[in-house]
Amino acid sequence: MKEKLRFNFRRLYASYPRSVVVATSYDGERKAALSLVWHTPLSFNPPIYSISVAPKRFSHDVILRALTFAVHFFPYERADLVERIGTVSGRDTDKFNTLGLSHFMSPLQNPIIEGAYLVLDCEYMDHILVGDHTLIWGEVKRVYYDPHAVEVGEDDGLELKAVRPTLYLGRGRYATIDLSSLKKMRS
Ligand SMILES: Cc1cc2nc3c(=O)[nH]c(=O)nc-3n(C[C@H](O)[C@H](O)[C@H](O)COP(=O)(O)O)c2cc1C
Repeated sequence: MKEKLRFNFRRLYASYPRSVVVATSYDGERKAALSLVWHTPLSFNPPIYSISVAPKRFSHDVILRALTFAVHFFPYERADLVERIGTVSGRDTDKFNTLGLSHFMSPLQNPIIEGAYLVLDCEYMDHILVGDHTLIWGEVKRVYYDPHAVEVGEDDGLELKAVRPTLYLGRGRYATIDLSSLKKMRS
């Protein structure tokens, strides 16, 4: 192995691909939407999901005012939408109007954008500044899913059916999984 003590962590694309999502929120005045490659579940019970948002993002303050957010998983075919949402700011543009984002409001008042195969409707729990990002986490109060894309098991498990997830590789590059690489190690 080679050692490298000087490296650009922002360009550590070797740790990608990673799943990319779109988070939305509404603070009663402005609707926010941003793309996020830094997101992760934190707890099964209660179900907790987290997103890592740079404080300079317009969406950052909207989410912390609203104290709710929704996390959207879009199919690979909508990678163009993820890229658009992640390259313009709500500070200058109403993304919901300009990108024609059809949506409805969840009971938590989160905008739920049509076309996602899975959406986690989250209620804020807490946040902490981690370096130059804010880790925000919330309890998943409900999920929305596209029944053509997601299968519901007897145990309420949700599994991808006829949909290819969107993965991000950095520098505007997107990919998806190749199911021919699937290895089933357990019955
Ligand atoms: C694929 C992709 C992934 C991104 N991941 C993150 C992320 O994890 N955290 C973050 O703060 N910004 C991330 N961004 C940047 C924001 O989505 C982008 O700055 C967006 O325009 C912010 O919008 P806003 O200013 O309306 O909040 C990502 C952008 C793209 C295109």
